[in-house]
Amino acid sequence: MYADLFTEAFFLTRRRKFRSHKAYSVSRMAPHLGGVEASGFLPEDVERRVRLYRGPDPSGPLPAARRWVGRAFRLLPLRDDLRTWPDLATADAALRRRFGDLRSPTVETDPDDPLALARLVTEGFGAHRLVAWDGGYAVDLRWLSALPVRPGFAPYGAALHVSRDLDAVQIEVDGVTLAPGDAGFGAARDRFEASLLLVVTVVDHLIHMHLDRAGGLVLALREGLPADHALRTALMPFTFNVARMNQAALDLLHGARGYFHRCFALDVAGLETLVRHALANPPPCTPPAERAPGPDLPFFVEAQGWWEALERYVVAVVDATLEAREEAALADALGTSGREGIVRVLTARLFDGTVGHRQVGNVGGYVQDAAWMPTWTRPGRREDSLLAIRPVIQKTVLSFISTRVRAPRFTDDVGPVLPEGPIRDAWVRLDADLTAWEAGLDARNALRPRPYDALRRADVATSAAV
Ligand SMILES: [Fe+2]
Repeated sequence: MYADLFTEAFFLTRRRKFRSHKAYSVSRMAPHLGGVEASGFLPEDVERRVRLYRGPDPSGPLPAARRWVGRAFRLLPLRDDLRTWPDLATADAALRRRFGDLRSPTVETDPDDPLALARLVTEGFGAHRLVAWDGGYAVDLRWLSALPVRPGFAPYGAALHVSRDLDAVQIEVDGVTLAPGDAGFGAARDRFEASLLLVVTVVDHLIHMHLDRAGGLVLALREGLPADHALRTALMPFTFNVARMNQAALDLLHGARGYFHRCFALDVAGLETLVRHALANPPPCTPPAERAPGPDLPFFVEAQGWWEALERYVVAVVDATLEAREEAALADALGTSGREGIVRVLTARLFDGTVGHRQVGNVGGYVQDAAWMPTWTRPGRREDSLLAIRPVIQKTVLSFISTRVRAPRFTDDVGPVLPEGPIRDAWVRLDADLTAWEAGLDARNALRPRPYDALRRADVATSAAV
């Protein structure tokens, strides 16, 4: 209850700020250009924290939270709130009242609509986790069943198998395979979705996209280049506010009695094991087309267009700003070698901090949906899982998506904050490339059974600052 009051207060203050920061202001980014970043933009303790999570012993003692909110929050006891809504209609009405105009227009209210699973692997959280499987594809999260959960909860772990057309074929849970229409399929679906939400949020979103990719980019630029280097200026749109967001994430989300501990059912040992797994398995620095498990999968096709546009930007600004004698230090900081390696790793970090972050971080719309993916499941009656009120994750997610500083989007007029010359020219061309890609997206969507709109420029932020 106390923790819930805390999140309630946090949510209310954030929501007010969100209303006043819907519009992007160039002036918010401009002061960070030209070396100011080095002294004021990135607090030293953030660098230390991020480095801890890239070190050899990530599950060691958590770094002390310096800000009072982090300290206070972790003193509050963890009590699982197991209350449920009486029915979905009541839940939906209550959430509509609560979130008002923050409510996403894309919510779905029927948890058993077969199209919901298809959507999940087409433009939802499962799209980037598809692997080839027996003539179709799968999202295989069975390995999560080894992670210990708190008393009263069912374990995580399930695999969803889909056809080449991305229709759900079956779900496997604890060695039992169930097809749509089978008794128990709904509960299996809930467990799969809880598993997907857990792994995408903790592993893909926090550890990989925020700390490793976006945070690692900031660190590498600081370690590999002087503060006033033009390449750091050119990459400012991609590093904007990243460090502060990562600090907030570490203070509030991660670790014992953090939000993730409260939102999901894992115990502390389970959370630590999951973080270890995430750190041991960073995403590859390869373009989406090379990672695609099959042809014509919308996420991989469209993400490839983004990759190519971002790579052109990286090549242009590296060529314009990086001298040969500076290559070795930057390559070393990025964990690669040579100019080609620098371009590849920078492209991957820019891609993951933008497109990758959008793919794994679009939780704002889902969280307002009464029938959205459960954060955990319980053994026994399905209603106890499906109709759980889950106030903590609702407030957590909405608190973070309504942060004080709104991240610029690719449709914002970012160009004017960049210096005139080759860097500004490269940004203008990036903008043109993405405009052309989006025109192509419309043409490709016209041929698809369902349009794919998850990576529209207006929805993708230039930095993982949310
Ligand atoms: Fe995020």
